[in-house]
Amino acid sequence: MTIKVITFGTFDVFHVGHVNLLQRAAKLGDELIVGVSSDPLNRQKKGRAPVYSQQDRLRIIAAMSDVTRVFVEDCLTLKRRYIKEHGADILVMGDDWRGKFDEFNDICEVIYLPRTPSISTTEIIEVVRQPEFC
Ligand code: CTP
Repeated sequence: MTIKVITFGTFDVFHVGHVNLLQRAAKLGDELIVGVSSDPLNRQKKGRAPVYSQQDRLRIIAAMSDVTRVFVEDCLTLKRRYIKEHGADILVMGDDWRGKFDEFNDICEVIYLPRTPSISTTEIIEVVRQPEFC
């Protein structure tokens, strides 16, 4: 039986925390499916436009050897539908989301992986905005 793992995220300003999450998620199954937040969804979730466009974020994720399929996540409330549509057996998220997706335990296993410490898209944006960085 093929075990399908699904995860969701914005993956803006792609960094090593994203790599670690995707590599560890891939090891939990045979296929890794990634839902990448659309630009409007990112604005809604994070209150800012992404630095990299939706199209570029999709291409970056699709280029990872661990990833077998990517799609655009248009709406946070459609997670159940996406999980079912893609036939996912396991939902993986970083543990900043711990508990938030337990409602999907009835259709798949839900696993929260530890976040990579000391790195995030938000922090990278803040660092490069500092005048002393230039
Ligand atoms: N992630 C992780 N370790 C990090 C940063 C992110 O494991 N240091 C995981 C998140 O938990 C999530 C996925 O990567 O499951 C996508 O996270 P995303 O929100 O796109 O990245 P962040 O760097 O957390 O972005 P932001 O700072 O904008 O919230």
